[in-house]
Amino acid sequence: MKSMLMHSFVLDALDTTGADTFSHFEVLIDEHRKMTDQYLDDISQNNKTTFVPSRLKQLVPQVGTFYTRLPLRKAFEAYNHKYGITKRRHICISFNEIRHILNLAQIIAMTDMYKGGSQLGLLPPLVPNGNIGGGGGVAHHVKKEGETDDQAIRAWTSMTVTPRREVDDKSDGSQYSGDTTPEERSRAMCDRSESIAIEEAFSLLPDRTALPGPKLICFDGDQTLYSDGANFESNPRLAKYLFLLLKHGVTIAVVTAAGYEYQAAKYELRLSGLLAYFKEKGLKGDDLERFYIFGGECNYLLRLGADYKLHAVKENGPGGWMNSTKHMSESPGNWSESEVKSVLDMAEASFNSSMEDQNMRARIIRKKRSVGLIPKADEKITREALDEAVLRIQSELDNSKINLPFCAFNGGRDAWVDVGNKRVGVQVLQSYLGVPPEESLHIGDQFLNTGNDFAARSVCPCVWITSPEETSYILKSILRLAGVPLMAILNPVDYEDKKQVNGDKDKKGIEKKVDFDEMERRTSRLAMDVFTGEMIPLQRAASRDV
Ligand code: IMP
Ligand code: MG
Repeated sequence: MKSMLMHSFVLDALDTTGADTFSHFEVLIDEHRKMTDQYLDDISQNNKTTFVPSRLKQLVPQVGTFYTRLPLRKAFEAYNHKYGITKRRHICISFNEIRHILNLAQIIAMTDMYKGGSQLGLLPPLVPNGNIGGGGGVAHHVKKEGETDDQAIRAWTSMTVTPRREVDDKSDGSQYSGDTTPEERSRAMCDRSESIAIEEAFSLLPDRTALPGPKLICFDGDQTLYSDGANFESNPRLAKYLFLLLKHGVTIAVVTAAGYEYQAAKYELRLSGLLAYFKEKGLKGDDLERFYIFGGECNYLLRLGADYKLHAVKENGPGGWMNSTKHMSESPGNWSESEVKSVLDMAEASFNSSMEDQNMRARIIRKKRSVGLIPKADEKITREALDEAVLRIQSELDNSKINLPFCAFNGGRDAWVDVGNKRVGVQVLQSYLGVPPEESLHIGDQFLNTGNDFAARSVCPCVWITSPEETSYILKSILRLAGVPLMAILNPVDYEDKKQVNGDKDKKGIEKKVDFDEMERRTSRLAMDVFTGEMIPLQRAASRDV
């Protein structure tokens, strides 16, 4: 895509031909999907058929599966309208911009599906104009009669409200007085009325409204929901979007490589801020129980309970997740322990040789279903050394007789071989929960061939983000495109709201209600090592950036 767009850029024709180029990509994908469907249908009906590669397959032999259409032109136009990329004279459209456009196309596709594909997915707001409670200056665009998709999307993108400034300076609201400019003061007024309105919007939301969008959203953990090696502590914006998704019937699953068997408290610690948010907002019933975590890629399934703690989902017997997914050949219910041991033995030997050959200051840890190559305290392993270790064991396992699904990946600071992978994790969830691939979405940060989100590409549509901030943006866009009232989505760090609900705030004005024995852990000066799940002295943990 990048090189095709480069031609137009060099000829200074991107402004006039960019959208057509994206239409061309769309045509190639549509043709590819049609030919693939036809071929698969013929096979399933035992018709005589021969495989003819599509034009797209010939151009990109490694092309994956498209579970939905991709309205690329629409996404490009919206993105370009916002950022004016085709007006640039010196900098061509970049890889990251193409990634953003593809992400946008994917989420438009998943919300459009419910409106016959032709509409924009902008449902009428619950309250006319979205001006709930008199919130200043915020409008919700509803596609008007006679308005084309392009006009409507332009109107929608031009309404993007500048994100509210994080409350990061003073705790008493005085950041809005004193040396503030008129612009800041008017923003502050707007912020206040929005935060009052937001609670009203919540009370107006019909809890059971099914979101016209993905039914199952799987999230990677590290670097998608929280920074690498850190925990989900205070991120009210992201927590609010996840909360709204659950309230609108979406099932959420954190599908993470981090595996601590069924030691629920360790997963709870990593998600402490999020679970505390759910508790504070009084999430209950089914909404609560649609929150899952799949630890160790696909090895340990836990679910949120009414006590806001995670509980192991039954594996075997009637209704057990392993039992009910045995029809899938790769399901953990079908693995043999001796094969698991062979994978781990090979991984350990290979990591040892990589470590020795590359003089890595690292150590190896072995768990029940994984082997990790992790840096020694205060050391860093280079990306090249980790990639070498990963590609080495990948090729050894690929060339072995082993039939189990596995994942050898570079986690950024470490390298791992897990038995199982996110392909199996997402597929088990789809089968266990009865959600088809085209209604599932996986959001993650590791989509290179040495990353562990890569495997999910073959079972559902994916969105490739690079940070928790990008995840927040994607969720906000899904909610907006699906028609959740704008007032409920904007301004999640609702300062006034926090003040009212809790009556107490920390110095930065952001409530920090720590739950799940966090305080106890802190006072006992212990923290969890995210690699091993062991509790270690706080100082050592901090020096490792965990
Ligand atoms: P993810 O991005 O949420 O999939 O988490 C990947 C990170 O989890 C790795 O980079 C490791 O730092 C951490 N981790 C902890 N335990 C394990 C394990 O058993 N297997 C793989 N990664 C693990
Ligand atoms: Mg990750």
